Amino acid sequence: MKLLAPSILSADLSNLAQQIRLVEMSGADWIHCDIMDGHFVPNITFGPVVVKAAKKCTKLPIDVHLMIKNPDNYLEDFRNSGADIISVHFEEAVHLNRTINRIKELGAKAGVVINPSTPVSSLKDIAEYIDLLLIMTVNPGFGGQSFIMESYNKITELRKLIDSGGYGVLIEVDGGIDTKNAAKLIDSGVDVLVVGSSVFNSDDPEATIRKLKNLSK
Ligand code: DX5
Ligand code: ZN
Repeated sequence: MKLLAPSILSADLSNLAQQIRLVEMSGADWIHCDIMDGHFVPNITFGPVVVKAAKKCTKLPIDVHLMIKNPDNYLEDFRNSGADIISVHFEEAVHLNRTINRIKELGAKAGVVINPSTPVSSLKDIAEYIDLLLIMTVNPGFGGQSFIMESYNKITELRKLIDSGGYGVLIEVDGGIDTKNAAKLIDSGVDVLVVGSSVFNSDDPEATIRKLKNLSK
């Protein structure tokens, strides 16, 4: 069974509890929180206080995607706010192995994210230590962007790297995912699909989640 992680970046944040309940009731597996600081990416979203609010609304795991400078300085805050999974960008983690160890020490699952231009090969020496590998299928910073088609090759390469090493790592993809490309992504070996605008901006978010869940069976 593949997992669905709606991103609340595209949700109606003035109605956060209702939006989270809606996706949870429709079959979502995780809640994806996009943390942006206006420095690592050209956009600012929200911090630990909103993660804490989201955590209060659901029993689903909170999947925190840190698009921030100096993520090491905030790991504890996000864990204490309720993050169950904390993913840091390869491009921003100077001592990535130490960062991953710290996330695990805090009791969260540890993820590494790579941008569209970062090669999968950069992950070969960290793959055995982590729980999740997140491939950005858009350039990070905004919801509603178009899926980058070259991502399929990266997914296939990453699937091979994980399977050849026998690592227990989930592959998550993030950006421009919808009911049209979800099946092919799953066939390519993806385990977790992040979906933002294709759900929250659809006419019927519940039906969209259900359709995506059916594709993930
Ligand atoms: C982009 C974020 C993604 C984004 C997904 O920087 O990491 O999680 O919110 O949104 P959609 O599904 O609209 O591309
Ligand atoms: Zn994200």
